[in-house]
Amino acid sequence: MDKFVSIQLDPSSEIPLYLQIYNGIVDLIEEGIIVRGEKLPPIRKMASFFKVNSVTVVNAYKHLEVQGYVESRVGSGTYVCYSSKKNNPDEFGTSEEVFSLSHRGHKSMFRDTARSIKFDFASASIAPDYFPVQDFKDVVNEVLDRDGGYALEYQESSGYPPLKESIMEFMKAQHGLSVPFEEIQIISGAQQGIDILAKAFLNYGDVVYVEAPTYPGAINAFRSRGAHIVEINMEEDGIDLNDLEKKLAKTPPKLFYTMPVFQNPTGNSYSLKKKQELIALATRHDFYIIEDDHVSDLYYRQKPLLLKALDDSDKVFYIKSYSKLFLPGMRLAFLWVPKFHFDKTALAKYSSDISSSGFFQRAMDLFLRKGLWTKHVMRLRKIFNDKWQKTHKALVNHMTKEIKYNLPDGGHFFWLELPKGYYSMNLYDIALKNGVSIMPGNLFFMSQKPTEGFRLSFAQISSQDIDRGIQKLSESINHLIENPYAIIQGPDDRPLL
Ligand SMILES: Cc1ncc(COP(=O)(O)O)c(C=O)c1O
Repeated sequence: MDKFVSIQLDPSSEIPLYLQIYNGIVDLIEEGIIVRGEKLPPIRKMASFFKVNSVTVVNAYKHLEVQGYVESRVGSGTYVCYSSKKNNPDEFGTSEEVFSLSHRGHKSMFRDTARSIKFDFASASIAPDYFPVQDFKDVVNEVLDRDGGYALEYQESSGYPPLKESIMEFMKAQHGLSVPFEEIQIISGAQQGIDILAKAFLNYGDVVYVEAPTYPGAINAFRSRGAHIVEINMEEDGIDLNDLEKKLAKTPPKLFYTMPVFQNPTGNSYSLKKKQELIALATRHDFYIIEDDHVSDLYYRQKPLLLKALDDSDKVFYIKSYSKLFLPGMRLAFLWVPKFHFDKTALAKYSSDISSSGFFQRAMDLFLRKGLWTKHVMRLRKIFNDKWQKTHKALVNHMTKEIKYNLPDGGHFFWLELPKGYYSMNLYDIALKNGVSIMPGNLFFMSQKPTEGFRLSFAQISSQDIDRGIQKLSESINHLIENPYAIIQGPDDRPLL
């Protein structure tokens, strides 16, 4: 039993005991301390080791099985059937949350998902079928014909100057904002932007505020700097200001990470009042804001106002990703850094990867200059508005009134809430059996505690599958509600339904 000594249970934690055991075992498997083919100790032995009810261990083992870590062999016991990425680095795909969550079984979650899903409401990137491949091929050829080998040299670290100029024009035309040339830092994806800001501004133990729920890749970046992360509740019109002010009175942060427009995972946007209030609080309490703009172009009503547009005291670092609606594999985004902080950020970028691909920067520059970005986004807006309507209609037709959901003005997420006490991680398991994948809400919180909410994304699913997919999801929800069997236990061994 020596291997399990590292698993320390905390009975006072909000995380149920079975999940603490599950998490501990997953860590041991991921670390390669328990390996494929190894038998887990019998339930009773484990229960007496952890001083818990044997049902708690049964549930931990069940959950390991559902997540693809172990298999139970009748009459023989429970065996590990998974090799950690350490032992087998190529086993998994590259879905965003796979890498952004260092945690717990989600890798196998994606592996299972990839194998058996027919209705993908989990993926957050648009399907490659929507990529403007021909237009991109044309600009790539033009770059190579024009610049030859020069396109493939090391690039100046802050970015390819003509691309910065196109970005300035884009920001002026799209948002009416004048971005100074010397405040643009080209980065290799928004994730790198978050990471280099964390690297440049955080010392061990510094406080960072994030929305709850939030994008887990950001949590990971802040965690990797040893930051103390504090969650602030999200509401339908943005951050909960009461919660924010209460926490500000105690421990003001150094950085506040936010997605004010079509937030990931809820799809919600801040009201004007909350945007103004956030900027005012940042000035009063002297903290900086990271505005992560991942899909603001995908609006279906009026064009959203960026938080950065209200920033008259240089408190906002604005990050714009080109991955979410365009070509994630290109790894391009930009960071608008107030001048005073530019050098510090540039140094963090340089030490991270020297520069982003000069070749792709040239292609992106032409893509913007030729108006192809605008054409592409207008096309997507039409397609996704149609998908939004179809998803909404299907939700109205198939969901019972106990299921709450929001109606975002853009993006490709809806946030649904199961009735109180029914947890979306359990729905995940049931829905998967029906060929439907969703993103359970616990993935978007620091504690990963079971939660009723979940993210429904229509980024990948085809228009014609939406209605059937939502119908299957609704059947899965009804199944969860009508079958209160305790596959999973809650605190004090109460069933977690
Ligand atoms: C909110 C948010 N920010 C940043 C990223 C990372 O984007 P990129 O591919 O530009 O690094 C993602 C990816 O899923 C995201 O959802």
